[in-house]
Amino acid sequence: DIKGFAFDLDGVLADTAKFHSQAWQQIAEELKIPWTPELESGIKGIDRMSSLMLILNSAGVADNYTEEQKEALAKRKNDHYQELIGTLTPDDVLPGMRKFLDELKANHLSMSIASASKNAPFILEKLAISDYFVGVVDPSKVKEGKPAPDIFAEAAKILNADPTTVIGLEDSAAGIASINAADEISVGIGDKGLLHEAKINFPSTADVTLAKVRSHLNW
Ligand code: G6P
Ligand code: MG
Repeated sequence: DIKGFAFDLDGVLADTAKFHSQAWQQIAEELKIPWTPELESGIKGIDRMSSLMLILNSAGVADNYTEEQKEALAKRKNDHYQELIGTLTPDDVLPGMRKFLDELKANHLSMSIASASKNAPFILEKLAISDYFVGVVDPSKVKEGKPAPDIFAEAAKILNADPTTVIGLEDSAAGIASINAADEISVGIGDKGLLHEAKINFPSTADVTLAKVRSHLNW
């Protein structure tokens, strides 16, 4: 049976994927690197420095920057991002998700946060949803980010549950790969083409209910 849920944050609970994109686009523009749909979906789920490397590599210019310069670019992106998330309010929980969290709580299912973002605790506070979760994975304490299994594996530990009884929710291909590699049940939210490795798919956050997850699994 289902023992718990591990949630990605950006693009699943919080309407913040647009802010990551906006902040990186500004950096890309300054560096004269064209912004593409591949970058738009590719930065989802991967950590800050990996996102920068993806952007630099897309233009074949990664070697033109020193480690110090890369750190400075990543910091500037994060400064801008933090300005943007400073404006978040409880209304920025994605459609249907607060209701879904309430449904899981009413069913005594525990929940944890499996985000690559170091800004996750701040965002949970801004959205006023911290109290739903038994814990938040600290991405600076895991060896490898998504698509490696570490973040979702740690989220199952926090839930004190066998991974095969944990449902992971994700809006990114890297995140779905992480859930599958951790031997959990993957739920993809968004474009089915990009998230084709997910066990279950929902077009949008508004479509997710416990009953639908159960019926897909015959549990
Ligand atoms: C999430 C987002 C990524 C972001 C990563 C790190 O996974 O989907 O786009 O790069 O978090 O976020 P941070 O807030 O630590 O830069
Ligand atoms: Mg995400």
